[in-house]
Amino acid sequence: MAPAKFDGMKDDDMVEIHSNLGREKHPPTKGFLVAPLIFVFGCLIFVCSIQLAHSTNSFQVHPPQEIVELTEEEKEALRLERKLDSGKKIFTSKCASCHQPNGLGIATQYPPLAGSEWVSANPELITKIILKGLKGEITVKGEKYGTSPAANMVAVPINDREIANVSTYVRNAWGNSASEVFESDVADIRTNTAGQNEQWIGEALQSEYLSGASTE
Ligand code: HEC
Repeated sequence: MAPAKFDGMKDDDMVEIHSNLGREKHPPTKGFLVAPLIFVFGCLIFVCSIQLAHSTNSFQVHPPQEIVELTEEEKEALRLERKLDSGKKIFTSKCASCHQPNGLGIATQYPPLAGSEWVSANPELITKIILKGLKGEITVKGEKYGTSPAANMVAVPINDREIANVSTYVRNAWGNSASEVFESDVADIRTNTAGQNEQWIGEALQSEYLSGASTE
């Protein structure tokens, strides 16, 4: 006699029970709609940023230069150019105050490097002078320098690479044209002269490296 049980339920009760059931179901439905939306937007943002990163060179301010294959000759020319550029900067900051930016020096005080036989001689000479300095009388381009004790050159405290760069620059600036000076050779000379604290004596270096080249 089951149907008899329901006979007591009024239509109004039925409607209320059902509408209650319906209400209870709504909140989960809302959640199901929002979650996939967030996911889809997330994916969109992700894909867009990857695309953006690709099209803007990974957000680099300066895009990488085009990769150009250089020949061995071009690489060598570039290496030398950089060495000379570096040498010029070192010259400007460490030597030009005395020898002047144009390499002409100052008469009777600072000898010229432009056209100097000292500069273009065996590269050991200029290396030694920068490493330890120079004192005493010397002759450069037929003119005497170092005649007073005040006109000395003290050692220039720079590293082997800087000496190689600045010497190479000086040997090829202002019309000079002499061979490149290498860092490894500078290092050897530094080691061999490590015990020497005094400046070189002008006359001694002159007769060792320039015998016959000076006018005296
Ligand atoms: C404070 C001044 C001064 C500075 C800085 C200086 N020199 Fe000299 N330099 C002299 C003087 C002075 C002589 C001459 C010394 C002598 O007569 O005994 C000389 C001599 C030389 C000589 C041999 C003579 C010649 O004219 O060729 C060379 C090479 C030389 N310097 C290179 C350099 C280089 C390269 C630098 C920089 C790394 C440098 N000097 C920095 C003052 C300076």
